[in-house]
Order: sequence, then C-alpha cells, then structure tokens
Amino acid sequence: MPVTKKLWLRPRVIDTMLTIALSKGKMLELTLDVFRRAGYALDGLSTESRRLVFPCPEIGMTFLIVRPTDVPTYVEYGAADVGIVGKDVLMEQDSDVYEPLDLQFGACRIAVAALKGQASRDRLSSKIRVATKYPRITERYFNQRGVPVEIIKLYGSIELAPLVGLADRIVDLVETGNTLKAHDLVEVECIAQSTARLVVNRASLKLKHAVVTELIKKLRAVSSIPTESQTSVPRKVRRTVRRTRT
Ligand code: PRP
Repeated sequence: MPVTKKLWLRPRVIDTMLTIALSKGKMLELTLDVFRRAGYALDGLSTESRRLVFPCPEIGMTFLIVRPTDVPTYVEYGAADVGIVGKDVLMEQDSDVYEPLDLQFGACRIAVAALKGQASRDRLSSKIRVATKYPRITERYFNQRGVPVEIIKLYGSIELAPLVGLADRIVDLVETGNTLKAHDLVEVECIAQSTARLVVNRASLKLKHAVVTELIKKLRAVSSIPTESQTSVPRKVRRTVRRTRT
C-alpha cells in the first residue's frame, strides 16, 4: 500500500542557510571587504583561489563565485538566494529579482565614447555603428533619442573597436577614464551611473525573510560609510563627464 505523504502534518523546517552569488573580477575584493566590515567572517574566501564554492557554515552562508553577467540568472532561478552585482548588468538584463540595496561601491558610469576629434555627430553618416557589451542599454538609449544605430556586440576590450574602424562609437563602463585616455577616446555622453547592488530571489525573500532582512540591515549599515576606495576616486574625474550631444 502506498504511503501517503502528509506534508501538512510535518513540522516545517525553515532553511536559514543563505546561498550568495558574488561577482568575480574587479568587484570581488570590494564585496568581501563590505561583508567583513558588516561582521561576517569569510575565512578561506579569497580572490586568489580557483574555487567556485565557499561554504561558511559558521555564519550560515555559502558563497558562489560567478561571472558578473551570470549573477542575476543564479538569483532569478533560485540557485542563489542573494547576489551582488553591478547596476550595469541589471540594466542590461532586466531580470526578475528584487533589488533592495545600493551598496554604493564599484561606482562607475555607462558612457558613450568616440575617438578624439570625432565626437561631433555631424561627421557621421546617418546610421551610427556602436560597439558594446551592453546591446540592450545601447539600443534603448539611442532609440529614445531617435538616432539610428547599428549595434556590434563585443565581449571585452571595447575600446579597440573605434581604433580599427569597427565602430564610430562605443558604449562601455568608465571608472577612472584611464582606458579611454590610453586609446585616444573621449567620453561624449553619460548614459547612467552604476554601483554594486544586492539582489534577492523573490521566493527567498519570503521563505528566508528573517535572514535576508538581517543581511540587508547589516550591509546597509556599512554601505553608507565611504570606504577608502570610494573616497580615492578623484573628484575631478567625476566633474569632467561631458554632456554633449551624440
Ligand atoms: C572595464 C571597462 C573598461 C574599463 C574602464 O573593462 O570595459 O574597459 O574597465 O575602466 P577605467 O575607466 O578605470 O579605465 P574590464 O577591465 O572589466 O575588462 P573588459 O574590457 O574585458 O570588459
């Protein structure tokens, strides 16, 4: 005789372990710093390691190290309860996740840039070629302005495209502006500012409400305190964002 599972009679086990997807690369060290300042001991978790999974049972968390562009996917599908990722990635992907906290580090901007001397639109043909790893942001931006564009999707080293005649413009992240400068490019328009965000899976926010809100509270408390890396961005760089027409 088959055993009927009387799920409703079982005491409900509330899972309080959080799985957290962290963006590897530039943002990882800053993320680890924020967690440590919030009081989470992340023993053994380092940017040098090749490991992708770091269980930290003493603080009730498991960390996954993933590509920044994959973080929203892990969180949306519930493979991770929480993720830390740049606003640029979220804007590009439109994932179905909660975004309750701006962690305020990793500040940069998504900008349109062109070769020096070619920043004026008058010199371009009617359809602008734009190279970018942000095709959706780029399309939205130029569409809103009624500017016809041909978008060339690249996966990195975007600054190369105008140098070799692949594109008239690029849309890319600018932090210090050094990469643009090194390639004789100038920023012609700022599309949006970006900082690191904490994102949460919709079901996890309900099912693990207490632990998720506790994490948000602790991270929020330290996010409002500027870190050395935030204060070290020269003000001059921020002020020199040029807002000319594309
Ligand atoms: C990012 C971005 C720029 C650079 C901007 O590239 O795409 O190339 O950083 O930083 P800066 O304004 O401080 O010079 P990343 O290093 O992530 O590599 P990628 O070109 O392979 O995307």
